Amino acid sequence: MSDNFEHISVIGLGYVGLPTAAIIATNGIRVTGIDTNLKTVETINRGKAPIVEPDLDELIERAVTAGSLKARSTPEAADAFIIAVPTPLVGEREPDLKYLRKAAEDLAPVLEKGNLIILESTSPVGTTRNLAEWLSKMRSDLSFPDSKLDDPDINIAYSPERVLPGRILIELMANDRVIGGLTPTCSRRAVSMYKRFVNGECLITDAKTAELVKLAENAYRDTNIAFANELSLICEAVGVDVWEAVELANRHPRVNILRPGPGVGGHCIAVDPWFIVNSVPDKTELIQAARRVNDGKPLHIARNVALALKADDTRPIVCLGLAYKADIDDLRESPAIDVVAELAKLTSRQILIVEPHIDVLPTELEDIDQLKLSELAAALQEAGTVVLLTDHSAFKDIDATQLTGKKIFDTRGYWPKSMFEILDEPEK
Ligand SMILES: NC(=O)c1ccc[n+]([C@@H]2O[C@H](COP(=O)([O-])OP(=O)(O)OC[C@H]3O[C@@H](n4cnc5c(N)ncnc54)[C@H](O)[C@@H]3O)[C@@H](O)[C@H]2O)c1
Repeated sequence: MSDNFEHISVIGLGYVGLPTAAIIATNGIRVTGIDTNLKTVETINRGKAPIVEPDLDELIERAVTAGSLKARSTPEAADAFIIAVPTPLVGEREPDLKYLRKAAEDLAPVLEKGNLIILESTSPVGTTRNLAEWLSKMRSDLSFPDSKLDDPDINIAYSPERVLPGRILIELMANDRVIGGLTPTCSRRAVSMYKRFVNGECLITDAKTAELVKLAENAYRDTNIAFANELSLICEAVGVDVWEAVELANRHPRVNILRPGPGVGGHCIAVDPWFIVNSVPDKTELIQAARRVNDGKPLHIARNVALALKADDTRPIVCLGLAYKADIDDLRESPAIDVVAELAKLTSRQILIVEPHIDVLPTELEDIDQLKLSELAAALQEAGTVVLLTDHSAFKDIDATQLTGKKIFDTRGYWPKSMFEILDEPEK
């Protein structure tokens, strides 16, 4: 089968799919991006990126103008398909595979002998095999990979994405990739496709291992962050500065404690550990405990802020940042949203939110009357309490004079300790 891959289709044009499509298109390959969201399709075809990611706008404009990238809402025939649709949680924290099922249903009619399909969506172990079975039921005229057939009409592999938002374009090309084909030929062809635009090493394994590797990476991160977050609670209880404790502990040559924060957010670290818990509930004590610690942090912070409010100070609370991490517009699973929502339950004080990357409040917060999206300088002027929730660069340059006379909660350890020494009111 040909490994030319002159026309690649990327299904799902979000934070993973769109940068992937743009990188492939700027590597001399014709790319068709598929997204069920018509606004996304229209925006991309105008040469614009519907998401915020450094340098992405420019890349999309270049690829669309050159005619190497176009977007549409339904799949058309191509040599290879990369699937990057959402795989969120639903109900009792179970993986929701409905987007993947829909992508498979839309893809099945256009499949042709010789096609390669790569699943990049983070998926429970066994999903790539299920995808092959779904497609095979819809296209009984084609052969799909199974244990007896190494070289079927359609090759299918799993290759997880491990990019860091804010550095997606760099990491897409530089990171090593784990590639798990349903058969050795599937893996070989997938490597051959990725080698067209990936400089990192392509590491071959089977599909199930590749699926678990992705979940393990994020559960590992979640567990380590939970340790840091638990340590922050311990430090608070015994009256120790957690930032200093972490810094000093990390001078041990084999210790590397992560930074505590307001919780864990994003589409990956806060979600993927549940995929493991869901499939092996009785073997995941540590992973479940880590989730509880991280999920408990927003309420803890909200309570601390509410407890510190003085009755005679009616000035608003200012919450800085809603995104789950610095310098991105992604609010999914953001603990900052939970802090604000909990705080609004605990106090009737007005809460001004400063989030430079959005124009309207997210749906979780839009119906809470006491919340208002504000500009940084104006909000700080009015504030009685300032809660830093996201370490956006825009907040780095806030100077001590803008915070004088206000109660400060820096949940990220973002501002230098020296700033608080200036601000600290003498004990009465
Ligand atoms: N965002 C990250 O940093 C990141 C990193 C690694 C892995 N992942 C994983 O990659 C996958 C995609 O994540 P994302 O962040 O890009 O999601 P996203 O929500 O940003 O984008 C997904 C896109 O898919 C579209 N879509 C939904 N169903 C579709 C369908 N049936 N056909 C075509 N398009 C469809 C949506 O409209 C959306 O534009 C998820 O499984 C996620 O866990 C994400």
